[in-house]
Amino acid sequence: MDNLITLVIATRNRGKTAEIEALLKNHPVKIKNLQDFGPIPQVEEDGNTFDENAYKKASFAARVFGFPVLADDSGLVVEALSGAPGVFSARYGGENLKDEERCINLLNEMKNKTDRKASFECVISVAVPTGNALTYEGRCEGIIAEKQAGTNGFGYDPIFYYPLLKKTFAEMSMGEKSAVSHRGKALNELKNEFEKALIWIRQNISVQDKFKVMPGCEKTDIKIR
Ligand code: IMP
Repeated sequence: MDNLITLVIATRNRGKTAEIEALLKNHPVKIKNLQDFGPIPQVEEDGNTFDENAYKKASFAARVFGFPVLADDSGLVVEALSGAPGVFSARYGGENLKDEERCINLLNEMKNKTDRKASFECVISVAVPTGNALTYEGRCEGIIAEKQAGTNGFGYDPIFYYPLLKKTFAEMSMGEKSAVSHRGKALNELKNEFEKALIWIRQNISVQDKFKVMPGCEKTDIKIR
């Protein structure tokens, strides 16, 4: 189909790509990810908010590739820690810690804290090469458990307790988690709004953009329209 819009997901993760591809399967989009292109310079995630980081990743890649790009950023926000780990979630406590060690570190910081309220937050940015962007957000409220429980998921899942289901994220199935999670909610918003987003994308990509891929970032199996 000629009027398919290429949407690049700013990830190398096949699972994440497949999830978004399935979500948008009824729309005229062709999904690619960073694996479909040559090397792209690393973007420093140095924003103060999830929004800034998601936008930075999406708009940079959109300019490099000349296609609309979807990027997300998410993390854990703990009230008693003044919002930490926040945008530092992936490296909080030390660059090279394993997920379990990161959870132990956070539990130690929460020792004797009575306010254990926390939320997972996710922002999805869809940017076009001009730098314009759409934003979708999801938030899930819970509390920091007293100890780790469950083995599913990743990151802080074993210590994020979701009172409504009386389970940590790590005790939930993938389906259960995505029905209530920050990422699930942001993706759902994207899905519900995608028809409008496509109209916006079409209005915002110029013919010139479609021909622009930064030299060195193209890959031979990519057809540049
Ligand atoms: P990213 O922006 O999705 O890569 O997430 C950044 C970091 O936030 C991850 O490395 C995790 O530490 C944490 N995080 C984000 N989402 C989740 C989640 O669903 N469960 C557990 N940890 C998460």
